[in-house]
Amino acid sequence: VKKGGFRFFRWTWRLTYLSALAGVGYTSYVVYQMRNPADQPDPDPSKKTLVILGTGWGSVSLLKKLDTENYNVVVISPRNYFLFTPLLPSCTTGTIEHRSIMEPIRNFLRHKKAAVKYYEAEATKVDYEKKVVYINDESEIKGDVSATEVPFDMLVVGVGAENATFGIPGVREHGLFLKEVGDAQRIRKRIMDCCETAIFKDQDPEEVKRLLHMVVVGGGPTGVEFAGELQDFFNDDLKKWIPDIKENFNVTLVEALPNVLPMFSKQLIEYTEKTFKEETIKIRTKTMVKRVTDKFIEAESTGPDGKKQLERIPYGLLVWATGNALRPVVKDLMSQIPAQKDSRRGLAVNEYLVVKGTENIWAVGDCAVANYAPTAQVAAQEGSFLARLFNQMAKTEQIEEELKKLSTAQEKAPSKDDRDRVFANIKDLQKRLRRVKQMGPFEYSHQGSLAYIGSEKAVADISWLTGNFATGGTLTYFFWRSAYLSMCFSTRNRVLVLVDWVKAKVFGRDVSRE
Ligand code: FAD
Ligand code: NAI
Repeated sequence: VKKGGFRFFRWTWRLTYLSALAGVGYTSYVVYQMRNPADQPDPDPSKKTLVILGTGWGSVSLLKKLDTENYNVVVISPRNYFLFTPLLPSCTTGTIEHRSIMEPIRNFLRHKKAAVKYYEAEATKVDYEKKVVYINDESEIKGDVSATEVPFDMLVVGVGAENATFGIPGVREHGLFLKEVGDAQRIRKRIMDCCETAIFKDQDPEEVKRLLHMVVVGGGPTGVEFAGELQDFFNDDLKKWIPDIKENFNVTLVEALPNVLPMFSKQLIEYTEKTFKEETIKIRTKTMVKRVTDKFIEAESTGPDGKKQLERIPYGLLVWATGNALRPVVKDLMSQIPAQKDSRRGLAVNEYLVVKGTENIWAVGDCAVANYAPTAQVAAQEGSFLARLFNQMAKTEQIEEELKKLSTAQEKAPSKDDRDRVFANIKDLQKRLRRVKQMGPFEYSHQGSLAYIGSEKAVADISWLTGNFATGGTLTYFFWRSAYLSMCFSTRNRVLVLVDWVKAKVFGRDVSRE
């Protein structure tokens, strides 16, 4: 028995050793492949030119699954990286460093089967009739040529949306948005600036209160998540390292509607409002901001008796998160297409995401109107759908080409046997063609909504087999973290985000002003 036990131990040890060795070998191979991509064939100009605008959720999901050998693919975007927006609110307080949620588009494109051309530029106009996109280099360094045009056979518009201000005076001049990396960096800097300025020697007490009043306008998920992150920053770090601000630091969330997070279930709205109360975040619902100055916002609030009253709310930091508006390039394209006349919120598309009134333009994500909410989930699914559609279109063309060749061969076949053989091949190909052409329209599958609300709590409305499942709390927060970690673009992003979380927990967030 002793001998048998020893043998068992020896074999277990050997197996463990071998599997560890295999694991290390495989990881090294994957890392090597990642760092040394294979040579790519150049884009083939004889193929149809597919121009993709944007490097956000919609466009990158399309590129991920697109077989780039089938088209001459050109990508145009002022941002040479993909941004994982769900974790952007965490960058405003330094819980996560912004580079951890950025994935360089160059690395990603370098791993595609055939090379893809990328131009860091903004599309300023799409000429639908001429099939041309006009582009501008908007970067600081400009060469002799900084504006040119790119012709297309097929165009995908995935330029997202810009921040809605509803023309409210002062918003653009004094408010900070939360959409891009630069926005998160500006907010992070402004928070620290407000804190340090508030405790400047001989500061007036009213001015201290103003500077430490952090106002967030918009009670959608962006506003709620940011308010939660900010309060965490104060509770976990700011008040420890700058105790002088403890008494006056306040976060207020202003929302025009009767409640925050209107897209979540009633139970989760109540849970969020209760959690905010505990966290001492003030929620001002039924309060519509009408004007913004450098030191206060002017808002119209509706009291319980229905009476409206105008008031001034002083602020030090103002974050404006009131949703999406159309980008000028999208507005301009819509004005060229009569079928888009009645569309207000973006490019109206059909069930195959073709821009209505066109044949060779598709739209994905926040700039498209397909009766879904403007979310990353929708944009990603639309992008994947288009990749499948384009791969199939290319396959269809290839089969049709082969069929044409076979019909000619059949006509020229010298004997009946040859003709029968070619005929059998034609039958096979026709069957394949029918199969390939069988692609249904786009159908969105809603996986649920998730939002972080601060104090290590999250809310989730999850679509389950049998219906919806609403949950909120600390367990949901762990679910939120693992879901977003698994959804990160690359393994590199996952590792960086994980390290940032550990860093923030162990050392606290960095309170230095860059
Ligand atoms: P985007 O991802 O915005 O990408 C647009 C791309 O177009 C960018 O690369 C941009 O540089 C480029 N571009 C802009 N103008 C031009 C131009 N003129 N020419 C060429 N390119 C141009 N959704 C969720 O489902 N879950 C979440 O948790 C979530 N969290 C979010 C948190 C924040 C802070 C924000 C702001 C949004 C969040 N969203 C979330 C919404 C989600 O980010 C958007 O719905 C999604 O980004 C839309 O994808 P898109 O591809 O349409 O646009
Ligand atoms: P939103 O459109 O969801 O919410 C904006 C809010 O601002 C609205 O509730 C509106 O009533 C309010 N508002 C507008 N004007 C106002 C004013 N003058 N004064 C006071 N309040 C005013 O915008 P948000 O949060 O930026 O989200 C945009 C999109 O991105 C949404 O589709 C959202 O679902 C998605 N998103 C999803 C997240 C998630 O799932 N966790 C996180 C962030 C965004």
